[in-house]
Amino acid sequence: MVNEQIVITDVGPRDGLQNQPIILDVGQRLQLIDAIADAGVSSIEVGSFVSPKAVPAMRGTEDVFAGLSKANGVRYTALIPNMKGYERAVAAGARAVTMVLYASDGMAKKNVNMSMLQADRVTADILTRARAEQIEVTAIIAVAFDCPFDGPTDPAVVRASTANFLSLGANQVVIADTIGAADPQQVRSLTADLVSDNGAARLGCHFHDTRAMGLANVFAAVESGVRRFEASIAGLGGCPFAPGASGNVATEDVVMMLEQMGFATGVDIKALLRASDIAEQLTGTALGGRAKPWLQKRMNKQAG
Ligand code: COA
Ligand code: ZN
Repeated sequence: MVNEQIVITDVGPRDGLQNQPIILDVGQRLQLIDAIADAGVSSIEVGSFVSPKAVPAMRGTEDVFAGLSKANGVRYTALIPNMKGYERAVAAGARAVTMVLYASDGMAKKNVNMSMLQADRVTADILTRARAEQIEVTAIIAVAFDCPFDGPTDPAVVRASTANFLSLGANQVVIADTIGAADPQQVRSLTADLVSDNGAARLGCHFHDTRAMGLANVFAAVESGVRRFEASIAGLGGCPFAPGASGNVATEDVVMMLEQMGFATGVDIKALLRASDIAEQLTGTALGGRAKPWLQKRMNKQAG
């Protein structure tokens, strides 16, 4: 296990910023993205191509793409809700997109005014186009454990959807606890089944820390063999269309835990704390994760 690699995608510039009372301009969004990239995070979700009427904070993601630092080898992805989002992303120069699927009709309806099946069909069409256009597609399954509208999710739905979209050619399937309702036992059980069905190479997990179980859920998934995680700088995050959703598990917390356990994340904690400070300064609301005060104290001691 020692030095085994774990890939972290920081989704703060999308999941984090979409739900803030303050709307950042493109320059501020790029400042945050660059700081995260400077910390060695190799994959960043930099925004979404959704309706600016639905999510005003994500207006101008084209301009964000135009301003990204390209020479650093970072994989930049953007969330898309439909084919129009795919087309906007490709036109903006994205080489990777993250399409949202749903494990409940209630969430699909509220988020994108589709049924689960409609979102599935659009995703299949996107995968066909993406293969021809050599665009990498991550399919993320929202409300994979619990839905604020339809209640607990049947794990069989998530297993079927994951296997289906991996077989249709998705580069990765990520299961998302959109409202942060899952517990580690549920996560252990579902991720163990998913790994046994599909292997771990193309599986990822996305947790929110609403009930303070985000990090425990990451651990449970690690124990099942999952090696890809989404997390958010400073614990920013939440879905405007899912009541009760609060911040994602903080990238700082995830990196600290995994590195201490002996995994390699490639992330420099000191630089990550700088990115976390920037997130806090820009939004005024970021909590900074739960380990930040301790991490800062350790840094200061080392510096002194
Ligand atoms: N980007 C920008 N505009 C889009 C779009 C996209 N990806 N998809 C549709 N639109 C536009 C349409 O062109 C249309 O514009 P018009 O009113 O100027 O003609 C308008 O949005 C409505 O289109 P319609 O297909 O009827 O969609 P809708 O009103 O049912 O809304 C979505 C559907 C998907 C556009 C909207 O619900 C959305 O953007 N949801 C995203 C929610 C989100 O980001 N959630 C958090 C992350 S999971
Ligand atoms: Zn989320």
